[in-house]
Order: sequence, then structure tokens, then C-alpha cells
Amino acid sequence: MQVANGQEKLYQELIEAGLVLSQERDLDVLLDKIVETALSIAQADACSLYVIQNNVLEFKIARNLTLEKKNVSYPKNSFQLKLDSNTLAGHVAVSGKTLNIQDVHRLHDQYDFKFDNSSDIKLGYETRSMLVVPVKNLSGTVVGVLQLINHNRNGEILPFPREVISPLTVIANQSGISITNTLLSNQLEEAHIETVYRLGMAAETRDKETGNHLKRMSHYSKILAKAIGMDETYQQTLLNAAPLHDVGKIGIPDHILQKNSKLTPEEWEIMKTHAELGYQILKDSKAPLLNMGAEIALSHHEKFDGTGYPKGLKGDRIPLEGRITAIADVFDALTSRRCYKKAWDFSDVQDYCTSEKGKHFDPELVDRFFEQMTEIVSIYNKYKD
Ligand SMILES: [Fe+2]
Ligand SMILES: [Fe+2]
Repeated sequence: MQVANGQEKLYQELIEAGLVLSQERDLDVLLDKIVETALSIAQADACSLYVIQNNVLEFKIARNLTLEKKNVSYPKNSFQLKLDSNTLAGHVAVSGKTLNIQDVHRLHDQYDFKFDNSSDIKLGYETRSMLVVPVKNLSGTVVGVLQLINHNRNGEILPFPREVISPLTVIANQSGISITNTLLSNQLEEAHIETVYRLGMAAETRDKETGNHLKRMSHYSKILAKAIGMDETYQQTLLNAAPLHDVGKIGIPDHILQKNSKLTPEEWEIMKTHAELGYQILKDSKAPLLNMGAEIALSHHEKFDGTGYPKGLKGDRIPLEGRITAIADVFDALTSRRCYKKAWDFSDVQDYCTSEKGKHFDPELVDRFFEQMTEIVSIYNKYKD
């Protein structure tokens, strides 16, 4: 078997790193991986990464191997630098050119910035060589700056050799593409989730419900899903889909939805159609979020003993998300003040829900729900009306 020489190893490392970086969609994990890869390729002792957001350089993450070995904690909090040449990172961001500095204490006068050694002094660290690389996306726009500190060759701190610049540029460019894609897909996802939430709000506002009801009941639903061991994706989808439970109320006429007195049996029948109406609005989507929303809209008024509506489903025939949101929705309605009633005490609500085990609610879910009171109370307080 042939042993890979240094060059081959480097290519392999670059290809693997490129693959890993291009597949990561969680921004924090991605930035972690970028710094990890850059440290290894440049054989640097420390590294920090800045990303340009809203026209400033936002410090995102740093690693310092020496300080980590000594268990010295160093600042990891976000701070911002102006996009100008008065700082090293700013200079590289503005010029778009790599800077390889042999010794930061002997900087030429040609630069507008000086090396700021205040944090070195605070941390008992000495920065000497630096390699600062612009992070560019596919169109060549600078989207961040990668700052490597102290090239470490077997314990000796040396200037960064020229040979590391090319591979590091490859990593920086791959990082730029991945950061841009991740930020864009995060933005798109946030917009999607917000639109869905606002759709839920549109229905609730007509019902004079507050947005806080949606926030509380969707968080309660997530807490319960977590308590019964559902995975992170299910919990997150449920959190974002639960606000759609009453979206069908959009189709209920005002004189019924906003009636201050008791509904007649005929009006009540119309009111009940909001479950099916909501399902019709949301069904047959390719988006998992809307699909779950459709299920919840249809099944959140089903009861465990089969006396609910619209289908009178019994027990496990009711989709799990319907059984979960039923508890979360009723729990929130009872613990909130409404124009016709005051808010119930938690213990009274627990007694009531316990008495409804196997009738309105899935008995197992009621037990798990009330085991989570610490988390539930914190959501209750966070989104108080
Ligand atoms: Fe409803
Ligand atoms: Fe509700």
C-alpha cells in the first residue's frame, strides 16, 4: 500500500472539508467546522471568524488552542467592527485581499490600523504571526474574514508559510458559499414560519384571541411532545404548526364567531365546521409544516372517548398531534382570563384535566403534561397577556 505524501493528504483534507462544509445547514455548527478546518490546515494556534451582517463585521467565533490547554477562558461574546480599514479584519474585508503578517508588533506604516494587544495582555497570550483571509462567496463578494494567529510548527511560533495560503483560500471560499447559502435558507425558513404564524393570527384576531394564546399553546404542545420522547424535528414542526389549529375560523361568519351570547344549536354546528375548514385550507401540501397544521386543524377537537368532532375519532385513531394540541389548547384557555370568565388556578386546571383522562384527553398525555409544570409555568410567565 502506498503511503499518501503530504500533498495528497492535503488534497484529501481539502476535499473532505469542502464536502462537510457544503452540507452543513446549521449556522453555528458550520462556523465551528470552518474554524476547526482552518486551524488544522494552517497549523495555527488560534483563529477567529467574522461574518458581514447589516454592513458590519460581526465577530462570530474564536478558538485558541493554547488558552484552551491552560483552561483560560477567553471572550466568545459577539461584538462588531466597522467595515473600514481601521482594524485588521476590517482592512481585509474592505480590500478583499489576504494579509500575511510575520510579526504584528512590527507593522508597516502603510496600514491605517495598529495591532491592539489589550486582549493579549488580559489573557496572558502573545500574538505574533497572523494570516487574515477574506471569505468570499461565489460571486466574489466578501462575506466575512478568517483570522489565523500564530503558525505553530512543533511548538515553535513562526510566520505563516506561503504554501498554506492557497489551501486556506480554497477553504475560505467554500466557507463563503456555505455561509451565504445557510443565511439565505435560514431567512427563507424564518419567513415561511412567520407567514404560517401570521396566517394563524389572522384567524385568531377575528376571534378576539391574542397572539399570546398561540405562542403559549404551541410551546405547551412542544413541551409535551418532548416529554413523551418525540424527536427534535417533530417537536419543532409541532411548535410551528400548532398556531394553525383554528385557522378555519377565517371561514366562520362574524355574527357567529363574535357573538357575545350563547350560540344556538344551528350556530354551534356552523362553528364546529372550523376544524374541517382549516383542514381544507392546509391539506395536500408538500411542506411537512402545513401537513401537520392540516392534521391539527382537523383533529384538535376530537375527544379520546370518541365524543369529539368532526369525526368522533376514538383513542389512538386521533393523530398524536391532535391529542397533544387538545390538551395544550384547553389548558391555555382555562389558565387565561376571557371576557366571560376569570383565569383558573393551575391546581384547578390540573384537577379538571385529570378528571377528563380517558374522556376528553389521552390519559397518558395528561400525566406527562403535568409532570412538566416548571417549563409550563415559565412559558405562561413569558407570554402573559
Ligand atoms: Fe378550535
Ligand atoms: Fe386555541
